[in-house]
Amino acid sequence: MQIIACYSNKGGVGKTATAVNLAYAFAASGRRTLLCDLDPQGASGFYFRVKPSKKLIDAQFFEDDQRFAKAIRGSDYDNLDILPANISFRDFDVFLSRMKNSQSRLKKALKAVKSDYDVVVLDCPPNISMLSENVFHAADAVVVPVIPTTLSQRTFDQLLEFFQASDLPENRIHAFFSMVQGIKSLHGETIAGMTEAHPGRFAQATIPFASEIERMGLTRAPVLATAPGSRAGKAYQALFEEIEGRVKA
Ligand SMILES: Nc1ncnc2c1ncn2[C@@H]1O[C@H](COP(=O)(O)OP(=O)(O)OP(=O)(O)O)[C@@H](O)[C@H]1O
Ligand SMILES: [Mg+2]
Repeated sequence: MQIIACYSNKGGVGKTATAVNLAYAFAASGRRTLLCDLDPQGASGFYFRVKPSKKLIDAQFFEDDQRFAKAIRGSDYDNLDILPANISFRDFDVFLSRMKNSQSRLKKALKAVKSDYDVVVLDCPPNISMLSENVFHAADAVVVPVIPTTLSQRTFDQLLEFFQASDLPENRIHAFFSMVQGIKSLHGETIAGMTEAHPGRFAQATIPFASEIERMGLTRAPVLATAPGSRAGKAYQALFEEIEGRVKA
């Protein structure tokens, strides 16, 4: 079972849009896929028309295999299940920090579904917290969308520094440029600069700023399902193929 996290310490960069499309692409390729919506806002569940869970999540949730497995829902697509967000996920950090081996709770919990899924995609909330440390320990690949602006550069450097300081393997970080606007020279310059500064770290596929992606809020389906031939659809497909190749390697 491969665990792929869509993560950034910055908000609104395209994590959820990526998680939704990557999960769809893995499922469409025949892999049994679970998308875990770890953000209490519940956006990735919303895109798959799965309601957030109202049941209270408490400290035991991630320790109780059966409760974890029972919370999983089916989706409209073959091979794709969803673990919907729960409003009390916002208290995760408090629960986690009280537990023993608090950094590896999520990894342990996901072992409960090891034989049911080939791929688990995690849609993460934007911060560096106990939950994200759990994500970093559990994930085989941390896929990081980066909007090519100066501020994103700083945030990305902070993430790399965090990995170094915490002795986490940096080679798990796979970044890509998100919401790219070809018309903006700053975007082009930032892409060139960051690609050079971080050899091999950024995927060649970039995701353009595209209205099809914004429309996912209306269609409530991945772009890869509704508009696979669009520029955005082709870009997500290319990103999927690169990530698939990287996690296999
Ligand atoms: N490539 C894109 N082009 C245009 N709009 C996009 C693109 N990617 C995402 N969006 C839109 O930008 C908004 C933020 O995207 P998304 O929710 O995927 O980001 P996020 O990083 O998950 O945000 P959050 O930190 O709040 O979880 C959404 O309204 C989404 O539809
Ligand atoms: Mg999100």
